[in-house]
Amino acid sequence: MSEEQRVNGGRIKPDLENNVGETEKDYSQYFETVYTEPSLKKARKRGGEEIAYFDDFEIDERFQGMGVGRKFFIKTYGCQMNEHDTEVIAGIFTVLGYEVADTVEDANIILLNTCAIRENAENKVFGELGHLKPLKQRNPDVLIGVCGCMSQEESVVNKILKTYDQVDMIFGTHNIHRLPNIIHEAYMSKEMVIEVWSKEGDIIENLPKVRHGDIKAWVNIMYGCDKFCTYCIVPYTRGKERSRRPEDIILEIRQLAAQGYKEITLLGQNVNAYGKDFEDLDYRFGDLMDDLRKIDIPRVRFTTSHPRDFDDHLIEVLAKGGNLVEHIHLPVQSGSTSMLKIMGRIYSREEFLELVRKIKVAIPDVSLTTDIIVGFPNETDEQFEETITLYEEVGFETAFTYIYSPRDGTPAEKMADNIPMDVKKARLQRLNKLVNEYSAKALKRFEGQIVEVLVEGESKRNEEVLSGYTRQSKLVNFRGPKSITGQLVYVKIKEAKTWSLDGEFIGVVEKKEVMI
Ligand code: SAH
Ligand code: SF4
Ligand code: F3S
Repeated sequence: MSEEQRVNGGRIKPDLENNVGETEKDYSQYFETVYTEPSLKKARKRGGEEIAYFDDFEIDERFQGMGVGRKFFIKTYGCQMNEHDTEVIAGIFTVLGYEVADTVEDANIILLNTCAIRENAENKVFGELGHLKPLKQRNPDVLIGVCGCMSQEESVVNKILKTYDQVDMIFGTHNIHRLPNIIHEAYMSKEMVIEVWSKEGDIIENLPKVRHGDIKAWVNIMYGCDKFCTYCIVPYTRGKERSRRPEDIILEIRQLAAQGYKEITLLGQNVNAYGKDFEDLDYRFGDLMDDLRKIDIPRVRFTTSHPRDFDDHLIEVLAKGGNLVEHIHLPVQSGSTSMLKIMGRIYSREEFLELVRKIKVAIPDVSLTTDIIVGFPNETDEQFEETITLYEEVGFETAFTYIYSPRDGTPAEKMADNIPMDVKKARLQRLNKLVNEYSAKALKRFEGQIVEVLVEGESKRNEEVLSGYTRQSKLVNFRGPKSITGQLVYVKIKEAKTWSLDGEFIGVVEKKEVMI
């Protein structure tokens, strides 16, 4: 936003040059200040915009020290990417001089980093905004902000404008780096500050981060999604697929390794599409994994992979093992080819099964997990049965299961739906029963084995007990010295419980040679 816009009689105009939002609507009946608001229509567009790379983030002089003596509190509702955005937002707050507040009551600025994936995720946020209202009434100086994926939706922004006047600012997923400006506006203005860019997206390097914990770290490798599955809001809220440069990713991971981090999770909505957008480089996800294998960090995971782009080279690289762990989260959504077609998933049941066969041949000890949606509009009993049989045939070790939730502006939202909610609920229950059976079976297979565990600290339930995860992402509880926290250790599994494994500490893993 330019200086003239900022000082235009206290009235901020939409930033037409950089953005973006639907600007025609007039909200002056609610407040005087008009900013950029989201447009799902614009967010749907692909291909027109250049991706801009910025690696020169710095805090404008005007904002330095803005947070000294103030505290921030962020509540995060979404996926790992959303949580990682929270780490960046916390990083920016920290550079501005803010400190972390332990509770909302203790904070001068409260942000809700939201998720739009299903209606219940959104309802939680509206509920929380309701809870915050009395706090705002008691203390009008506290700033309340909404950011993340919900901010990218017109319907949400309109609803907040109309009914949640306790909110001081709304910003989206594309302009986190503008946080200092947005907070500044919010302090200066009595009106709600809205800055949401409905663009295809940029890549901004060198943003500060305050990471949660010092054992495991998230690293974005790409942003956005171009798959446009017919039920999903993410391509609208996160922009187009755009990959970070390999050298930036490798540098970040080397730095994390040097700081002592033991596990990296690579993040993207569809990590297998990594590199497809490079015009000057023939370098894909398999190539990246092959380079990360050579970095001296004990574990590398990734999430989420779309079955469509899971190519043979990637399988070949993953099969080399080393720091590449034997766990692949591979969302299938449905076991029925006709349903997959309506969902826009661009693979059939048979193609999915063939991919699973290839993965299992190459990585015999692999743990496969998945996501499934039941109750998509007009899903028949037969189509649902195919999901059940596919689950059994693959033998997924666990799954996240959901009832379909209509999302504003998506193609599926417009589909007539003849399936009653109680049928959907019954299907979910039946599927969950199967998922639980398979999860238990998957844990049972480790009884008597010695597994490698990355120790994360005291168990949540009992401080006498340590806990951590295996390479296949199984939770293990065992007794051992606290000093091994943050280390890789061997544990002999004694008993499989419903959701975790109980074991006995054997010893610390000697440092392995990095495999080339
Ligand atoms: N990019 C990932 C998924 C991210 S969203 C992938 O395609 O694999 C996480 C999960 O939420 C999805 O896999 C899907 O199972 C679920 N989901 C997405 N949109 C949904 C909707 N409208 N209703 C119910 N579940 C949904
Ligand atoms: Fe959504 Fe499909 Fe993209 Fe996953 S691949 S984020 S389900 S549109
Ligand atoms: Fe939710 Fe946005 Fe992640 S919609 S699942 S927070 S990308």
